[in-house]
Amino acid sequence: MKVEFYRHSLGTAEKAAVGEVLDSIFLTTGPKTRQFEKSFAEYLGVKHCVGMSSCTDGLFLTLKFWGVGPGDRVIVPAMTFVASANVVLHVGADVVFCDVDPGTALIDLNLVEDILKRDKQVRAIIPVHLYGQMVDMKALRSMANQYGVKILEDSAHCIEGKREGIQPGQLGAAAAFSFYATKNMAAGEGGAVASDDERLAEYLTVARLHGMTKSAIDRHQNYQHWDMDFPGYKANMSDIQAALLIPQLGKLDKLWKRRATIATRYETAFSRAGIEFPRTLPGVKNARHLFTIWVCDSKRDEFLGRLQKEGVGVVVNYQAVHLRRFYRKTYGHKEGNFPVAEEIGRRTISIPFYPGLKDEEVDYVIDKVVAINRELCQNA
Ligand SMILES: Cc1ncc(COP(=O)(O)O)c(C=O)c1O
Repeated sequence: MKVEFYRHSLGTAEKAAVGEVLDSIFLTTGPKTRQFEKSFAEYLGVKHCVGMSSCTDGLFLTLKFWGVGPGDRVIVPAMTFVASANVVLHVGADVVFCDVDPGTALIDLNLVEDILKRDKQVRAIIPVHLYGQMVDMKALRSMANQYGVKILEDSAHCIEGKREGIQPGQLGAAAAFSFYATKNMAAGEGGAVASDDERLAEYLTVARLHGMTKSAIDRHQNYQHWDMDFPGYKANMSDIQAALLIPQLGKLDKLWKRRATIATRYETAFSRAGIEFPRTLPGVKNARHLFTIWVCDSKRDEFLGRLQKEGVGVVVNYQAVHLRRFYRKTYGHKEGNFPVAEEIGRRTISIPFYPGLKDEEVDYVIDKVVAINRELCQNA
């Protein structure tokens, strides 16, 4: 059997929505983008949402708006995708890596507080709701208030997630989302920033389009002259992307339920077989973006190869960011600096996890993972 690592769930509704845009005048940022922004803000329970070309651009431009720059420092977990850290460098600030919790792989808030106590140059923190599980935003909010730092949630994995009733974007000053090809809502590429801050939303709306004071739709309907107050960027969402996303908003719950069912089957089988995976804590609605298992580190790469040989698609999400060549060279980071993130990075394997997985495919993945684990890891 062949089980792809990922297959998108886009179908007739998305095709029709894109067709409608192609039949209209507007391909770029226009009425569909506005419609998506409004609906997504409502879904998240925040006042504003701005469609971007990616989550990375959303994170970057939000830091820019806050004036984070040279001389400033931003706390980022050592276990995440490189984009969460790279955006800090793009605004000219420095990354302060922080280790993660061994049970959840989420940033360790005790260690965050240690950094905040000793490092007065920290201006912001980027908590990452990794794999779909939210960081404890209530605890982080009170810490951020005490030390006067901004919270920018990296919510690339967490659209549907909640923790104690709180959704991404509600306690952070802003939250950035990704609609990259494999995300829970996929447009191939795309992103959004959600926030209650009207000034941030206004800035992003202008900054994403060169700094022009009027967008294409303002100029189209009734031509208006535009000016430029600062040199902006090119980071806008297009109406084609928005058209793909709008029907998916209505299906989020159904697709989430299917992933939650698959997650329960994986967790039950792997617990029985003594295979570890990140734990979802009480009070959390896990958005269920990725399913990762933690196998024996000495055999992880052999494990990856064996699963692929059996036709099971695999990916490594993620290796510890501070050990990437650039961060080693720039900051002198080495093994041992953030041991929990490093261990997860050595042991993690992401397995197929999407709503379109059939029950027999889930069973097949379970059988192969358990059998290979028995062979490679039981006595490792
Ligand atoms: C945790 C995390 N943050 C940020 C990003 C960047 O998202 P985008 O590709 O939309 O810029 C990703 C993408 O995979 C991610 O996994």
